[in-house]
Amino acid sequence: MKQNQVGNGSDYKGPNRVFSGMQPTGALHLGNYLGALTKFVDLQNEHECVFCIVDLHAVTVFQDPKLLAGQTREIAAAYLAAGVDPDKAIIYPQAQVAAHTELAWFLNCVARVGWLSRMTQFKDKAGKNSERVSVGLYAYPVLQAADILAFKATHVPVGEDQKQHLELSRDIAQKFNNDFNVPGFFPLPEPLIKGPGARIMSLRDGNKKMSKSDPSDNSRINLTDSPDKIAKKFRKARTDAGMVPDNLDELENRPEVKNLVGIYAALARLSDQDVLDEYAGQGFGTFKPALADLAVEHLRPISAKLNDYLANPGDVDKVLKRGSDKAAEISMPIMDDIRKIMGFWGA
Ligand code: TYM
Repeated sequence: MKQNQVGNGSDYKGPNRVFSGMQPTGALHLGNYLGALTKFVDLQNEHECVFCIVDLHAVTVFQDPKLLAGQTREIAAAYLAAGVDPDKAIIYPQAQVAAHTELAWFLNCVARVGWLSRMTQFKDKAGKNSERVSVGLYAYPVLQAADILAFKATHVPVGEDQKQHLELSRDIAQKFNNDFNVPGFFPLPEPLIKGPGARIMSLRDGNKKMSKSDPSDNSRINLTDSPDKIAKKFRKARTDAGMVPDNLDELENRPEVKNLVGIYAALARLSDQDVLDEYAGQGFGTFKPALADLAVEHLRPISAKLNDYLANPGDVDKVLKRGSDKAAEISMPIMDDIRKIMGFWGA
């Protein structure tokens, strides 16, 4: 990982810190796992890492109060089951740490309406309903910037769909530093997107990303799916009548095939070309069961651990409590500085 201060226009001189988060809005899928969670596990060995469960983001669309705490615990359990180690990384629910909401308000007063109205994810989520969705959904990317900047995080591992939000976070950080004449106060956070799983697509439509909100459960592999279900979903995955090609150019107009090859490569930690070398000329009747076996074997220990954690919610809650205290400890002095910079009474 590059030093943050090198080459990104930031005068920030502080230490590197990694921050990322996931919404507790349903079981995690293979896209969340390959696009983000595997990176969390890799990064924790070398960097200070803060991994949040972003319950404040989840409530930008209505969440059943009877379910929200359980959903939050489930994401924490998935982090742990995938290998995030609470002795190395901080894991906590966003609503436990007041810095998120407070800094989001301050940054709402820095970000410009025009910047937010360009956010494609808002347009996708709001659709034709943009007058009737919550104000929170519109301001969501500012909360995301606050999440990162309340920790002065320098690096943010995410899937490709978060690229625009990360660019906005950098713009907001830069404007704060300029407006208040504090060059280098906030780092300009670097997205860590590259990697084979950065954009996993739906199994039903290679032009749509794999998503929790897709009405078809067959479009995604959930970390909680049984081996039978995983095998069935890959068997039913859309492909075309051709064979596995031998070169990457040929994947370009075959989005479904490209996606399956990409999933295989990400799970096996190979390149796409390695996968083509192994399966070129074979039909999908051979490739899909091989992919299903690989996914089942990869996910089996994770889903077993996930079930163990879910059977022992008290253990997960202890991790979340400890993580909340540590996260508050890091963000508190940063928030004190921000209040001083902005000139609030009592700061
Ligand atoms: P969320 O909860 O939608 O997704 C969690 C992470 O999974 C990645 N992801 C994917 N990666 C590859 N292929 C896919 N099909 C796929 N679908 C999801 C996402 O890119 C993300 O990394 N706004 C964020 C959460 C957030 C956040 C933050 C992230 C809130 N504050 C601060 C980083 C830093 C979101 O809704 O992610």
